[in-house]
Amino acid sequence: MTVSDPLVYLNGEYLPLGEAKVPVLDRGFLFGDGVYEVIPVYGGKAFRLEEHLRRLEQSLAGIGMSDPLSDAAWSVIFDRLIVGAEDQQIYLQITRGVAPKRDHAIPAGIAPTVFVMCAPIAPIPLAGIKAITVTDIRWDRCDIKAITLLANVLLRQEAVEKGASEAILVRDGCVLEGAASNILIVKDGVIITPPKGDTILPGITRDLVLELAREQGIPTEERHISLVELRGADEIWMTSSTREILAVIELDGEPIKGGVPGPFWKTLQTAYQDYKQALRAAAAG
Ligand code: PDD
Repeated sequence: MTVSDPLVYLNGEYLPLGEAKVPVLDRGFLFGDGVYEVIPVYGGKAFRLEEHLRRLEQSLAGIGMSDPLSDAAWSVIFDRLIVGAEDQQIYLQITRGVAPKRDHAIPAGIAPTVFVMCAPIAPIPLAGIKAITVTDIRWDRCDIKAITLLANVLLRQEAVEKGASEAILVRDGCVLEGAASNILIVKDGVIITPPKGDTILPGITRDLVLELAREQGIPTEERHISLVELRGADEIWMTSSTREILAVIELDGEPIKGGVPGPFWKTLQTAYQDYKQALRAAAAG
């Protein structure tokens, strides 16, 4: 096992990443028929594990599957794959499994494919990011963390080709989320984020940011955000497990309030880092 060929888990076995192989008739490969989770690891411990595993169950239920492993069994796998105390991320994926032939209809009695790997978290751009708005071309069950991410991939790529790093998805004039992140805005001292439902992924980081905001005494609202409101926001943030809280400093080529992360972002960023630090200290102690 090396840094470039870390140990991974595949269907009950631990093996180097380069040796982990899935048959081509796997329905994940053929149809994108599966779900996934990304769980940050701080101080060597999976962060908000309970919440991530409950969301995994919800995603599985959404595609008519049940969790193949118990919470305890997941923890055993994660503990084996987490190396050191640096911030890292667990990626886990469950597909419907390998079918005898390619057929859209789901065959009875096949075993799911279960894959888990752990990787470092890339440095987070604290100076802020550029984002563009795009029309949401995804399906109607965005609450399921499906591996079928073609729309998200194409929309993120559109952002990258325009010199931005995230695409903000807009449907019927409503701002929903990023290609791989949730969105929050600040207007007149209130943090506003779209409500949970089938148009967004119920982000674990989003929930933590709302919790931390309430602890800081900052009012929050979960309600629809129009494109007009987005353009008039004092601050725009994108949240995710791997990128924490990112300030959007430029939207569709226009700077957001001076083009630097705003004061509310700084407050929440500090609260978030303090929260992580407390977890690391608890894990070490
Ligand atoms: N994506 N919305 C979408 C569409 C996402 O893909 C993600 C995360 C989020 C944020 O959820 P959370 O805070 O629980 O990470 C919202 C992960 C990181 C990914 O696909 O890599």
